[in-house]
This record gives sequence, C-alpha cells and structure tokens, in this order.
Amino acid sequence: MAQAGIASRRACEKLIEEGRVTVNGKKATLGQSADATKDRILVNGNPLTPEEKKYFILHKPRGYVTTVTEKHGMNTVMDLIKSPVRVYPVGRLDIDSEGLILLTNDGDLANKLTHPRYHAPKEYHVTLDRQLSATALDRLREGIRIEGRTVNVDIQSAHGNTILLRIHEGRKHIVKRIFLQLGYTVTRLIRTAIGPLRLGNLAKGKSRELSSKEVEELRKTGPRPPKAF
Ligand code: URA
Repeated sequence: MAQAGIASRRACEKLIEEGRVTVNGKKATLGQSADATKDRILVNGNPLTPEEKKYFILHKPRGYVTTVTEKHGMNTVMDLIKSPVRVYPVGRLDIDSEGLILLTNDGDLANKLTHPRYHAPKEYHVTLDRQLSATALDRLREGIRIEGRTVNVDIQSAHGNTILLRIHEGRKHIVKRIFLQLGYTVTRLIRTAIGPLRLGNLAKGKSRELSSKEVEELRKTGPRPPKAF
C-alpha cells in the first residue's frame, strides 16, 4: 500500500488495524501479503491500483541537497524533477557534489541498488587540491581502510590532480574520506555513473526519464564480486 502511494508505511498499518482495508472481500491483517496485480484490495472501499513505476536520472548541480523534505529554504534535488508521481533519490550526493542521481518510486529496485551486498558500482571524477603522488596512487590501488572496512578502489585513470575511479560503496562522504586518509582534499566531485547508467551529456540541472531498456539493465546489476572487481 505504501508503495502504491496511499500513505506512509506507518499510516498504512494504522488503516489495516482500523479494519479499513480488505483483501478479496476479507479484512486485511497486519503482515498479510497481497499482490495488487492479482488480489482485489480495497482501502476505505476504494480499489488500490499500483502506482506506475517511474525512473529518472538527474544531473545534480552544486548547492542542492539530496533530500525529499524542504530544509530551511535550501535547494533540493526535488526542485529539479518534474514527475507525475512522487519519486525518491536512491542514495545521496553531498551538497557540494555534482553529477548522477537516480530517482524512482520503485522501492524494490532502490533497496537492491543500495543494499550493502549489492551496492551498485559508482564512478566518480575527482579533483584534488594537488597532484596525487605515486605513493598515494599505490596506496589507493591497495584499497583504503575506513572505519574497519577496506574500500576497494578501481582506478580508471589518473592525471595530475584528477582521478576517475569506481567503488562499490555507499557510505557517507566516502570519496572525500578516502582522500583525506591519504592527506588530500577533494575540491570537486562529480558522479559520472551508477551501475550501467551514465551521466553522458545530460546538462547540469536537467533530468530525463530512463528508457525501459535502461531500467532492465539496472535490474540486472548483480551482487558485487567477493573481492575487488
Ligand atoms: N563520496 C563523497 O565524499 N561525497 C559524495 O557526495 C559522494 C561520494
């Protein structure tokens, strides 16, 4: 019900507890599973129709926060999305980071992509405060330990103070923390890909809906390999 956009999960539970939901003519119970495409589900006597699934990518500019709720008059990524249904950002980018954000109302796919076991690979274009030394580059190749867990870093290219890398991580400020560990400050961070999705030439501040082929490819994003990739 929450997925169909009726109300929050908690409010939906309340509706069930109050006996206002029926499945195939019988009062629904908490924890009962039902499928809106097969079962006849009524909420307050009205049929529950599953909300159409929507998928967008957005090129987030600097200065926008990745949250669905207004934050003290700050710009949010939701200001840049025109969707007929409510969609939610999958994962986050810092306010000063730029690049690819996926937004959807497909909770199952969002959970899969952000699950620690599956974490879709993400590609970042990183600019540092100064040129990366050969020693630092070697340390990066070996993997960086952050809060007891090693982050495997797949370096795509490195020139002077810019690096293109891929990681399977979703921890907060992870790229900045990787470089802080090496004694560098990230001065610009652009996410260029999430799994098979690429930012491409999508203009800053613009969004577009994914094609069904892109959604299919995204669904196929499998679990990460056990060690490095
Ligand atoms: N890592 C960061 O440090 N910041 C981001 O916004 C994304 C990844």
